[in-house]
Amino acid sequence: MSRLIIEGGRPLCGELRIQGAKNSALPILTSALLCDSPSIIHNCPDLSDVEASCSILKYLGCEITRVGENVCIDPSGADKFDIPEDLMREMRSSIVFLGAICAKLGKARISFPGGCELGPRPIDLHLSALKQLGVVIEEDHGWLNCHVDGRLHGANIVMSFPSVGATENIMLAAATAQGTTTIVNAAREPEIDDVADFLRQCGAKISGTGESIITIEGVSHLKGCEHTVMPDRIVAATYMAATGITGGDLTLTGVNIRHLSPVLPAFFEAGCEIYTEGDLIHIQRRGPLKSVKYVRTMPYPGFPTDAQAPIMAMSTKAYGTSIFIENIFENRYKHAAELVRLGANIKVEGKVAIVEGTENLFGAAVEATDLRGGAALVVAGLAAEGKTVVTGLHHIDRGYAGIEAELSTLGAKIYRM
Ligand code: UD1
Repeated sequence: MSRLIIEGGRPLCGELRIQGAKNSALPILTSALLCDSPSIIHNCPDLSDVEASCSILKYLGCEITRVGENVCIDPSGADKFDIPEDLMREMRSSIVFLGAICAKLGKARISFPGGCELGPRPIDLHLSALKQLGVVIEEDHGWLNCHVDGRLHGANIVMSFPSVGATENIMLAAATAQGTTTIVNAAREPEIDDVADFLRQCGAKISGTGESIITIEGVSHLKGCEHTVMPDRIVAATYMAATGITGGDLTLTGVNIRHLSPVLPAFFEAGCEIYTEGDLIHIQRRGPLKSVKYVRTMPYPGFPTDAQAPIMAMSTKAYGTSIFIENIFENRYKHAAELVRLGANIKVEGKVAIVEGTENLFGAAVEATDLRGGAALVVAGLAAEGKTVVTGLHHIDRGYAGIEAELSTLGAKIYRM
């Protein structure tokens, strides 16, 4: 079992280019299935989740070639309509394949994604939307058997919650449907915009992304295109949290400042100085680390749930009390118990976590139980006295490309065994 060994206490300093966004790359790879000619995706991060998406595409009959950060998808031979259980299990977000496969082949069979490390992850919004677009869905012992009579058709879909994955599923299914689809209460996350940008370059007619109402006018076919994946705002926030907790001085390049605006107030509150210019953000902490007061996770443009754990890690060493309210996922405080092993003082009650800052954290053996929670343990380990050993690295590798190599170049003492 591989593990990360961190000898904490060194400020994170230097410059780093931010990787492409996982949550944008995954649905874009899925969207490429809808085209009738190859697409090339640039800035596609080298992550196990991306590999899992490529494995599904290959199983479906696509040809995939990766050269560095560039992935070419040729969907012309894609004729399979099922996704085996083991591939489905590797990545819960592969539910977004359902809309794309139904749109392309008129039928699909996938295993029910089930629960995940963040608690139950229902797909009712995905299924109800696809039904409205004309997909007939039968549940059969953990499998979803789907077919379309004729072609998918446009619909007016009102979502009770702005689900990111369901919004993407609808966009993919509606792009080549007959007629116009509107999504009311659509998710507004920047990754949705990036997926829509890709689809628009392929010939789709999508407007309103970034707003609560998205309109999709179905077109008869999509052709492949070249697209560059947007920067990963959560990875950027994670490295910023590591800089805050270690009292470092870091410049991140290739970022989108607007996408980071929901997390910036937490860093200001923590006493960090931030300077931005173009696609660059510079963060430095010289004075004492202060608490972040209140962090309430919300759909975009609110504070992202994915940044909650790394920011909580930063707040464990701050002067004062920080309060976190997790509004998106039910089970997103598993990292709190592991942070406590490092000496943090955290009380969790339902969706609320209260962090009393402590002067020192101390290295210990801890286990990552989910992606962002795992990143939080690395952030805390970088500021803990002595040696921290992090296991459960497969979670971290889902979303952070070469985390130990990146941190080492910034002066951290971290290696993988
Ligand atoms: C995506 C991101 C994930 C991020 C999340 C919220 C990807 C690959 N993952 O996940 O990193 O944390 O957005 O920003 O992009 N829900 C339902 N029924 C549904 C669908 C969702 O009740 O059919 C609930 C979920 O249980 C959860 C909430 O809605 O409580 C948000 O989920 P959603 O926005 O769908 O997140 P994902 O797309 O799964």
